[in-house]
Amino acid sequence: MTSGIANILEKRDHDRSDILAMLQCSEEEAPLLFRKAASVTDRYLGNNVYLRGLIEYSNMCGKNCLYCGVRRDNHTVARYTLSKDEVLEAAMTAYRLNLGSIAIQSGENTSTAFIDNVEELVREIVSLTGGRLGITLSQGEQSRETYHRWFEAGAHRYLFRIEASSEALYRKIHPDDQMHRYHRRLECLKIIQEEGYQTGTGVMVGLPYQTMSHLADDVIFMRDFNIDMCGMGPFIEHSATPLGSRGTDNLFLRERFNMTLRMIAVVRIIMKDINIVASTAMQTVDRAGREKAIACGANVVMPNLSPAKYREGYLIYEGKPGYREINGENISGLDLGMIPGTTVCLGVWGDTPHYSNRVAKA
Ligand code: 5AD
Ligand code: SF4
Repeated sequence: MTSGIANILEKRDHDRSDILAMLQCSEEEAPLLFRKAASVTDRYLGNNVYLRGLIEYSNMCGKNCLYCGVRRDNHTVARYTLSKDEVLEAAMTAYRLNLGSIAIQSGENTSTAFIDNVEELVREIVSLTGGRLGITLSQGEQSRETYHRWFEAGAHRYLFRIEASSEALYRKIHPDDQMHRYHRRLECLKIIQEEGYQTGTGVMVGLPYQTMSHLADDVIFMRDFNIDMCGMGPFIEHSATPLGSRGTDNLFLRERFNMTLRMIAVVRIIMKDINIVASTAMQTVDRAGREKAIACGANVVMPNLSPAKYREGYLIYEGKPGYREINGENISGLDLGMIPGTTVCLGVWGDTPHYSNRVAKA
């Protein structure tokens, strides 16, 4: 049996059936898959882990995704937007602690005031840090003009999960209205890439109605889109959402976690030199989830810098760890003893060769 996966892992190029076979390998074969992914990380990126201080800027969201705890119709959430000073303070904490870069995330808001504020914040952070702090944005679907303005202001990476690359699956996990159109989402991802951002996408793993075939196609989608960064995590039910109202089924959560590890490993093997995040959702299911993700090919972690009093408001899914304060002694919060040989890189943006190669080829 083992020879099957071993042969596939030795190939230089993998087709859809190889991807499916890797995702579906047996429990006994999985360590081979994970070791292969780790060796690819080592060879292409040198087992370095990069940090992005996460600033959850606002939980106001105009969308109503059927899986998400901060969806518009969840009226139990106290809505907040950080003040300019709170964002700048968090950004300067990242700068002082030498994290190298930050990610500013929020719900989807297309108001003029919001767009202006994000632009101003980016400009201010660039100016306060002399451009030395990398800035990633994640503000969902916006107009080309807005993406352009934010890029001009100094943001250079954008995280924008496609959530599900299958249009049919996408439609099952979103309301059927103008706000939630698969084609619009795809178009935004293209615009983000065209505007010059290092472009990140990803999917949730273990969604209702999702099949192995969908997951294989998700990997192919990311490869064909030639993305620079990938963020994936297990779907975790939130009780105040349509897809979570039956409560968390812990039995399947562990399987979704294990399948996310396989997705990370396969994406690493297929795309080699991109950045892959060890997501907070992984840590929610398993205390050592991020370390396990790193051991299978992830190379980015996002320590949360949001002010503690707002953490409750950003519960996209239940059980999200909000307690772990960043501290000067162990900035990444990782248990490095679990991932020997890994170096946490401080003071660098942490771009991968993938983006510069892609731009050079274009
Ligand atoms: N479980 C796991 N991940 C979720 N996200 C939203 N809701 C959930 C959930 N219930 C993810 C989406 C989104 C990111 C910010 O969080 O992929 O892009
Ligand atoms: Fe809003 Fe993002 Fe949640 Fe959808 S997933 S409801 S866009 S915060």
